[in-house]
Amino acid sequence: MSTTVRAAAKINLHLGVGRAREDGFHALDTVYQAISLYDDVTVSDAAVDSVSVTGAAYVDLAGVPTDGSNIALRALAEAACSGSHLVHLVKSIPVAGGMAGGSADAAAALLAHDRLHGLDQPDDVLLAQAARLGSDVPFSLVGGTARGRGRGELVEPIADSGSWWWVVVPSDVGLSTPEVYRHFDRLFPHAPERPAEPGELLTALASGEPVRLARALHNDLQAPAIDLRPELGALIERGETAGALRGIVSGSGPTCVFLCDSRDGAMEVLAELSEVHDVVLTATGPVAGAHVLA
Ligand code: C5P
Repeated sequence: MSTTVRAAAKINLHLGVGRAREDGFHALDTVYQAISLYDDVTVSDAAVDSVSVTGAAYVDLAGVPTDGSNIALRALAEAACSGSHLVHLVKSIPVAGGMAGGSADAAAALLAHDRLHGLDQPDDVLLAQAARLGSDVPFSLVGGTARGRGRGELVEPIADSGSWWWVVVPSDVGLSTPEVYRHFDRLFPHAPERPAEPGELLTALASGEPVRLARALHNDLQAPAIDLRPELGALIERGETAGALRGIVSGSGPTCVFLCDSRDGAMEVLAELSEVHDVVLTATGPVAGAHVLA
């Protein structure tokens, strides 16, 4: 018996970061959007716990742990249910890319395990389990477009009737999220306790106009990410010169995402960036959160 669940990558349309809290996490006020890059996770009954991984050629599969530290395997321990499992990951979301790939795997594994055993736990129970696994995991369950507060785990869906076109440029080498947050602390030792609110972004989102959304995109982790990887600044400039309305670092990076005015616009930017980057993808958002495929 097995169950397969699909979960999407996320980007942050707004990422307001406040000063580090006493528990070491940073207060966030963010607007997530799930975009059409997916990991598929199959959970099967097995004699011993194990993880296997395959995926797109551009994904650093060697960077995915296959021991008990894998977040998808850890997710299975959240529900009271005995037995061992094989967790098989088919990855299209970059590893350590700032797109919540590990969180998507955890959310998918939580849901797959729940459905495999017919537990049918209520949403609030699954969301609490997700929050214990990581700040972005609740959003990976919910998907769509949503505001995230607290350390990112308090998620509130936002109506978003837009169909936004993105060009996505992953990096060959990942960036460590804690390292980017530590660099944020070094660059902004006087960051406000309360993170920047997404008022402008929410208005732009409701307008449905890509030009307005482009202007309102905001990421407080972009400066530390570019300081650690200056080539990301050059990539963003190149994408904007190629016709993107705006380029930003996705979350803590190093993936960069470019908002385009249409499908055709995205294809033009893809063609130009493909001259200088091996891997350039397109995606649309918002898309659904974790859901059962089979
Ligand atoms: O919650 P998650 O395990 O995804 O966080 C990974 C790391 O990112 C944390 O250990 C912390 O260093 C940093 N982080 C943070 N503030 C947040 C979310 C993550 O400092 N709100």
